[in-house]
Amino acid sequence: MSNIRDLYALEILDSRGRPTIKTTCTLASGISASASVPSGRSTGAAEALELRDGNPLRYQGKGCLKAVGHVNTEILNCLKNRDFSSQQELDGALIALDGTDNKRNLGANAILSVSISFARAVAKEQGQPLYRAFSQLINRKVERFPRLTINLFSGGRHAGKQIPIQDVLIVPSSPESIDHSLVMMNNIYQAAAEIGLKTYGMRLLTADEGGLAPPFPNAEAMLEAAVTAISNAGYRPGEDAHLALDVAASHFYRDGSYYLDETPISSSRMIERLQRWCADYPIVSIEDGLYEDDWDNWPLLQEALGSRILILGDDLLCTNPSRIDKAIAAGACNALLLKVNQIGTLTEAARACRMARDAGWLVTISVRSGETEDDWAADLAVGWSGDQFKNGSVTQSERLAKYNRLLEIENQKPMPIVSWPN
Ligand code: PGA
Ligand code: ZN
Repeated sequence: MSNIRDLYALEILDSRGRPTIKTTCTLASGISASASVPSGRSTGAAEALELRDGNPLRYQGKGCLKAVGHVNTEILNCLKNRDFSSQQELDGALIALDGTDNKRNLGANAILSVSISFARAVAKEQGQPLYRAFSQLINRKVERFPRLTINLFSGGRHAGKQIPIQDVLIVPSSPESIDHSLVMMNNIYQAAAEIGLKTYGMRLLTADEGGLAPPFPNAEAMLEAAVTAISNAGYRPGEDAHLALDVAASHFYRDGSYYLDETPISSSRMIERLQRWCADYPIVSIEDGLYEDDWDNWPLLQEALGSRILILGDDLLCTNPSRIDKAIAAGACNALLLKVNQIGTLTEAARACRMARDAGWLVTISVRSGETEDDWAADLAVGWSGDQFKNGSVTQSERLAKYNRLLEIENQKPMPIVSWPN
């Protein structure tokens, strides 16, 4: 049983220099803990509402002072001096207080900052690491690390749209530890930077998640360069390291067509293109290969490739139990990309995670493109036995905070990495 004595929220800045929210939860025992909330740019239409002030004089309307105010007044007044015997009870009180279907009243950012700071304070009170507390929410033992999927190249909304697809990620597959995965990735990243320098003659700019963003002429050039970077770094593509893609197809879809190149293509041509990429490159996972509401065609994509690779739903599912239900019934994909702030509380995200697992899907735990130095996502990826963890590149402190937390967990509790995708 934990009793909330105080909640204190503050507007802070994320990795893009945009406002977000950090809340400190103090329990009656005097123990307190804070949590900061990330923010997406390539967002799904069905995501819970991230409340922004809309005041053009502050941060182009993106201020979070209203969300901060909601924590410091309504939410505090509702929760103060109340006993909560579980995370579910606390989250239930937040959902009831908000009273809307997408958290537009209090803001999913305000609600999530309370949900996670409470979880962290309770874990601290109980003297257990955060990943263990998280694991109890889904009733699973902590016995392995997720396979890392690490951003190498970016396009789309994360990199000024120089090419339409959003991310090519490296999956270090032969390493048996987080430490070795990061060593491999560092070598591949350096090799990729050199390829970019040679081919495009400039020091490469980095995208939102720290990926390199050379002016590739098309998606195939991006995939080709990723494979070359793996071999130039001394590894075997398709054995030591594989590729994962976040196509983020919703962002180049209009009126029934996909604008991948100059000539728009239909859904079935888009699926053929993805099949061709899988035949030509060592791809083990494709996220949002189709538009988020292309429900008729997702099952065809799953049928075409789902027996060999992960067909991951991000914008398609938005970590939302009712969309996951629909996707399971339709046979639309075989894996969930889980972002807690898409739904707004730990309890609802845990339900999404359980539903995916019950359907036999795999689960990728993911951060957002706008992140903070908070590292709770690493504990979540371990605690919820993520099959993959998607945390951006191996540069930039907001990304490294999570990788460093994984290194710390590995140091304290060595465990195998999940064997996928070998
Ligand atoms: P985000 O999306 O920019 O909304 O965080 C990243 C992704 O599409 O996975
Ligand atoms: Zn995505």
